[in-house]
Amino acid sequence: MGEGNAVQRIGVLTSGGDAPGMNAAIRAVVRKGVFHGLEVYGILHGYAGLIRGEMNVMDLSSVADIIQRGGTKLYTARSEEFKTPEGRAKAVENLRQHGIEGLVVIGGDGSFRGARELSHLGVHTIGIPGTIDNDIAGTDYTIGFDTAVNTVIDAIDKIRDTATSHERTYVVEVMGRDAGDIAVIAGIAGGAESILIPESPFDMENVLDKLRRGQERGKRHSIILVAEGVAKGMKIGEQIRLATGWEVRVTVLGHLQRGGSPSAFDRTLASRMGAYAVDLLRQGKTSQVIGLQGKDLVAIDIDEALTMKRKIDLSIYELASILSI
Ligand code: F6P
Repeated sequence: MGEGNAVQRIGVLTSGGDAPGMNAAIRAVVRKGVFHGLEVYGILHGYAGLIRGEMNVMDLSSVADIIQRGGTKLYTARSEEFKTPEGRAKAVENLRQHGIEGLVVIGGDGSFRGARELSHLGVHTIGIPGTIDNDIAGTDYTIGFDTAVNTVIDAIDKIRDTATSHERTYVVEVMGRDAGDIAVIAGIAGGAESILIPESPFDMENVLDKLRRGQERGKRHSIILVAEGVAKGMKIGEQIRLATGWEVRVTVLGHLQRGGSPSAFDRTLASRMGAYAVDLLRQGKTSQVIGLQGKDLVAIDIDEALTMKRKIDLSIYELASILSI
């Protein structure tokens, strides 16, 4: 076992919705851990697998050939049982039986709440933000967001081709349960005519006015981006059709936004965060969540991260509106 490590055996799991780049983070945890002489266990199926004791030692070659793959090699799940004290007790017992003292949890808010519970039960836990939604306080970016945005832009570009040919209005619904980040960044980069997000109340009359003004100026096609947290794209499409009488088409991008090979940004972010998580555990840290602030990685107390209010950058949203006048 490695010298100078506060923990000798650690585990890594992915939890909640998967995100491109999770594999790169797993790889980094395993390789950095092994580099420092730690034994690293991969826990399958998130907290559900932890309760069932699904864990295996991972060696260097177990994470070969995954940095470029979307999804998660460790599988993921949302576990109701883990929300109960009995479920958590089973999870801790399994970790103890394997001598695992530290755990890296890659996921979103819900996963971090689970990590916090484990830390109260004596397990050293470090959270890595992995979700396409980018909805975690304390970090500028979550792993998977950049790839998802690029996937959406690719879709918008393709939809715009056919929207132009047919001179139609398109509504495109994107993911982001309670967050408009994907819609805003993909919207400005894809030149969407209007972007509807949960963080900013919108007036349908304004959306319609803008569409009509565009038509009067000779605009023959438009793309309205709707974050799923606002309304169903179908509903918005129907409202536009009824109010204008135009032909409107609706595309719901859905889970294709969660897949695909991670971008260079996400691979790099995941590699850095995975390695940093191992360093924090080696130093004996617990109950921390990693964030990217500017160019730097930071470790934030998990309680603070879970109570901090996350703010979307509305200046980009406003700029998108000005540029799509
Ligand atoms: O949190 C990530 C996310 O992709 C959200 O954007 C979306 O609302 C949700 O997960 C979908 O979850 P499920 O995997 O249950 O369909």
